[in-house]
Amino acid sequence: MKFEELIAPIGLERFYDEYKGKKHFVIKSKKNIFKNHFSWKEFDNYLNQIKINGVWDRTPQLQVVLPNGEKWCKKKSPTEKTREELLELWQGGSSFILTLSEFLNETMWNQCREFEKHYGIGQANIYCSNQKDAKCFGIHADSTDNFLFHVSGKIRWYMYKEYAGQCSPQECTIEETFELDDGDLLYIPKKKYHRVDTLSPRISISFHFREFDGKPYIRKEWYDWKPEEIYNGR
Ligand SMILES: [Fe+2]
Repeated sequence: MKFEELIAPIGLERFYDEYKGKKHFVIKSKKNIFKNHFSWKEFDNYLNQIKINGVWDRTPQLQVVLPNGEKWCKKKSPTEKTREELLELWQGGSSFILTLSEFLNETMWNQCREFEKHYGIGQANIYCSNQKDAKCFGIHADSTDNFLFHVSGKIRWYMYKEYAGQCSPQECTIEETFELDDGDLLYIPKKKYHRVDTLSPRISISFHFREFDGKPYIRKEWYDWKPEEIYNGR
């Protein structure tokens, strides 16, 4: 979806004048315009690639919010986790994050390309939770602008008045809370404090981008590797 289409109710001009870096906004959608971005089936396929036969592993991007609120990172944490331990964490309410995952399908890849016509290089982090009141990150701020695509499930958002650098996360004060659903979009300016509560199982995708630095980032094409014969009915 083109950036202009995505933010159509606001428009490009107003986005840059009133919102960019200054103010969050929500665009509600009656139908789930993000349903092709990531599915529970794709999540299931991804998670089943953890430690295949105890040796092979294809999940380097996985992160988990542990019951104590700390983050376990597949790539960087010193301790390893088995498939069984991860399943237990998932069923116990830990949120899972598939970071740097825009390459997992064509829809997310192309979406990043569209954003990169207006921003610098970016990525998609996919946030998944199994249930209501899942363990999520506490109040924090991100160093880049964030566009949250709500793909599946209900989430309550807490937006705070302050930005990182103005006060610590413990000192910030609530500006607004709202609930978002399938197909809704949320823009969060960089450094603005925020957090979520899950109200059901959910998939949400955070597309976030560096600022445009004058040199457009040219993302590679998504090639079509499918044998033509099959699709031409031969
Ligand atoms: Fe965040």
